[in-house]
Amino acid sequence: MTRDNIITVLDLGSSKAVALAGRLSVDGKIDVLGLGLVPCRGIQQGTVVDISATEDAIAKAISDVDATAGITTSSIYMSSGGIHIAGRSSHGTTAVRGKEVTDEDVEAVVGAAKAISFSQEESLIHILPQSFTIDGQENIRQPLGMSGMRMEVNCYLISGISNTLRNLNKCASRCNLSVERIVVEQVADSYGALRKDEQESGVCLINIGAGSVKCIVIKDNAPVFVKTFPIGGENVTNDIAAALRIPSGLAEEYKRRYGCALSERVSNDDIVKISRVDYRSEQEISRQTLSGFIQPRYQEIFEFIEEELRKEQIKHMMPAGAVLVGGGSRIQGLPSLAAEIMHASVRVGTPLNLSDNSEIADLIKNDSSYTAVCGLLSFCFEERIHSQKEEGFFSNYSPFGKMAWFSRFNSWVGKNF
Ligand SMILES: Nc1ncnc2c1ncn2[C@@H]1O[C@H](COP(=O)(O)OP(=O)(O)O)[C@@H](O)[C@H]1O
Ligand SMILES: [Mg+2]
Repeated sequence: MTRDNIITVLDLGSSKAVALAGRLSVDGKIDVLGLGLVPCRGIQQGTVVDISATEDAIAKAISDVDATAGITTSSIYMSSGGIHIAGRSSHGTTAVRGKEVTDEDVEAVVGAAKAISFSQEESLIHILPQSFTIDGQENIRQPLGMSGMRMEVNCYLISGISNTLRNLNKCASRCNLSVERIVVEQVADSYGALRKDEQESGVCLINIGAGSVKCIVIKDNAPVFVKTFPIGGENVTNDIAAALRIPSGLAEEYKRRYGCALSERVSNDDIVKISRVDYRSEQEISRQTLSGFIQPRYQEIFEFIEEELRKEQIKHMMPAGAVLVGGGSRIQGLPSLAAEIMHASVRVGTPLNLSDNSEIADLIKNDSSYTAVCGLLSFCFEERIHSQKEEGFFSNYSPFGKMAWFSRFNSWVGKNF
């Protein structure tokens, strides 16, 4: 790979399709060269519900990214999130027979962890090694060169429903695009928004999209939990629309302009004028009343997450707290509400991996809805470099710490469904 290599990525959400073209910079950040952002109503909770709407959105997003970057994209990397994604832990063992552990031994032990049974409808997308054990000595992060008789590995495997992945592929190929690889949205998000120290000590990343909320917990630089909840920012908008009897387009506008997730944060004297359903007359409402329609839904979202983390006994694995991303995280007051429910420190995450040198970077670097598409670029560069076992300048490129070393295992999967 040369430094001039440009990758185009595509993130399809329930509300938008966003394409980004970028190049790896000398400092390991991403130089963003092109952006395509269009509304998309063809996907719901990660599943294609309207092929032609999805196809139109992809075609437009890619043509915009090509126009801004001055390129012609023929292949893309794509994210996939939603309720069809599942994660599970797995274990593998191999004999080393007293010699030093080699690349081939590591491939063998990870291969053994991969060999668990999936249902026919599922395809493996990521194999993410967590830690190795050699002759009973646990928590080895990098076993290469160590000696021992028997090596074990704990891995986290992330899979998706094959038909869903095939349909995403189909939409892209109808736009004459080949899909190099599908990356799970939570994994992409973690590359875009999380600091290395957070991934090391343990952190929960929560993406509040339009139709779903996607979580991933990362500890010691490897995922330990992945989950999607079928609820999102759209539900908040619909609650406002129903309570005020206004169209959802207006509810969306007022939510973004005046909304707050913590009603105690806004005063009852702070009055805003909003349209009635006929658009001809106006009604007055306090921001506190408006927040009263917003807070319960956000509260419900964080209570679901909290309950699931406790049920799965993950809570103690996230001392760095939670990082909120996705458009739904942009509402005022949300970190405080989330911190109260989760008893953890909470921050809003924005893309951390961008070079500060373009108008597009300026546009998206403070916006939490772009973490997935930005992280997708970092993930793809990392995987491309390490799957080719490149030497030299890029060989140490590792936005995800030790994950880089494992990237090549991911090139075994995620391509054929
Ligand atoms: N400023 C804002 N305040 C509250 N919600 C917002 C704001 N901006 C965007 N959203 C919500 O974020 C959701 C879209 O988030 P996004 O991450 O872009 O979604 P997706 O990737 O699912 O298309 C919508 O439900 C929208 O209402
Ligand atoms: Mg999204």
